[in-house]
Formats: sequence, C-alpha cells, structure tokens
Amino acid sequence: MSVVFITGTNKGVGLELARAYLQQGHRVLGTCRDVARAEALRALGEAHPGRLSVHPMELTDETSMTALAAALVGQPIDIFINNAGAAIGYSTDASRNVFGALDAELWMGMFKSNAIGPVLLAQQLYPNILMGAGKKMVFITSKPASIAENTGGAMYMNRTSRTALNQAIKSMSIDLKADGVAVASISPGWVKTDSGGTGALITAETSARGIVDVISSLTIANTALFADYKGELIPW
Ligand SMILES: NC(=O)c1ccc[n+]([C@@H]2O[C@H](COP(=O)([O-])OP(=O)(O)OC[C@H]3O[C@@H](n4cnc5c(N)ncnc54)[C@H](OP(=O)(O)O)[C@@H]3O)[C@@H](O)[C@H]2O)c1
Repeated sequence: MSVVFITGTNKGVGLELARAYLQQGHRVLGTCRDVARAEALRALGEAHPGRLSVHPMELTDETSMTALAAALVGQPIDIFINNAGAAIGYSTDASRNVFGALDAELWMGMFKSNAIGPVLLAQQLYPNILMGAGKKMVFITSKPASIAENTGGAMYMNRTSRTALNQAIKSMSIDLKADGVAVASISPGWVKTDSGGTGALITAETSARGIVDVISSLTIANTALFADYKGELIPW
C-alpha cells in the first residue's frame, strides 16, 4: 500500500484520482480549500474507512501550506500529485484572457495558483517525499503549456502559468535526481469538469485512470516526463 498525496480532491480530476487510488487499495492524503463543503469527498472516505484523510490547503496562501506541512510531519508520501489549479476560458469568462484585455491582477493570481504555489508546496512536503519509498512528484499541467505545440495562440494566462510551472518541473527533475525523486508534468486532456466545461472530450474518470497508469510508468529513468493522460509525450 502506497501513500498518495493529491491536491484539489473535492471535485473533478482530483476526486477521481483519489477514487482510483483508493480502489487500488492505497491510502490517500487529499486536500481541498473548503473541507466542510467537500461532500463527494466525504462520501468517498466513508466508502474506504481509514484510508482517506482530508486537509485544507490553498495554493495562493503560504501559511496554509506551512500548516499542512506541520500536520503531515513524519508522514511518508510515496506519490505527490499537485492536481489543483485554476483555468480561465472554457467554463468561465474568457474575455480577460485575450490580447488587448489582459488583466495583471488576474494573471498574477493564475501564476500564484498554477506555477508558484505547486512548487512551494512540493518544497514544503519534500521531507515527506524523501521518507516515502515511491519518490514520485507529479504536477497536473496542460498541453497548452507546451511552447512547441502552440499553434492556436490565445489563452495567455493558462498557457504562461503552466509553461512557468513546466520550467520549474524541468529544474526539479535535474536538482532532485540525486535523491532518486522522479518528476513529471502530466496533461489531463480536455476534461468535462468545472474547469474544462461541458463541451470537453473526456470524463474525469477516464482522465484520472489514464493519469494513474502514466504515474505507474514514471521512474527515475524517465524523469522530466511531459506526457498526456494516455502517456503520449508532449514536446516542451
Ligand atoms: N478540465 C480540463 O480540461 C483541464 C485542462 C487542462 C488542465 N486542467 C487542470 O487539471 C487540474 C484539475 O482540474 P479539473 O478539470 O478537475 O477542474 P476542477 O473540477 O475545476 O477542479 C479544480 C480543483 O483545483 C482547486 N483549486 C483551484 N485553485 C486553487 C487554489 N488556488 N488553491 C487550492 N486549490 C485550488 C479547486 O478547488 P475549489 O473547488 O475550491 O475551486 C478544485 O479542487 C487543474 O489543475 C486544471 O487547471 C484541466
């Protein structure tokens, strides 16, 4: 049984990742911003007694990450997954995400939640990851983070915040290799969730099951993996 840490487990891909790992018999440490309102997560925990614990965490608030790290002192983590993140444009108003209307405050918020927060969180929980046997650090990013694949333009805040995270992932894959920690950036696909909208192509369950398979194939030999939920490599 592995211990899998997953952020944003109250809904969408994060909830399905938690379900998939619990169904495989693992223990899950989940996070969400509002534990009291995470009804689906609570039901999931009741279906798997003693194997799901839920902690509050906000990626734009360093004190909440410090409190989480304090609550988890001494707890080994085999697989770290930062799934939580923000998106603008599919199910939310995209009018401020186009050239000519870009908004600094909103853009900085996207950087905090999508690029800076996930790395600071990994930094805070690194002692736990080093204690674990799995030694895998995974970040859910997106295909639009790829500069090489950008043929469509637009999506400035989504793309740049994830591209910045990808650059940090690449650095971590180099810096942490000596510790035996494998690092990956995984695109979930275009998923029918609050972020992806109803016009998306796949369900959260399909995305999560694919991501779990990709993570099981991650080793120190293929660290710096950038792939989609089907395991297809994405150029940086
Ligand atoms: N759906 C897609 O097509 C798609 C495509 C590319 C990438 N992604 C990425 O895949 C991941 C999973 O998304 P999803 O599709 O499952 O979307 P979702 O259902 O909207 O879930 C997003 C999760 O991230 C959490 N979150 C957002 N900002 C946060 C912050 N600042 N601090 C802590 N938690 C935060 C949300 O919490 P609340 O419920 O409190 O808001 C929620 O738990 C996200 O990183 C998303 O950007 C999704």
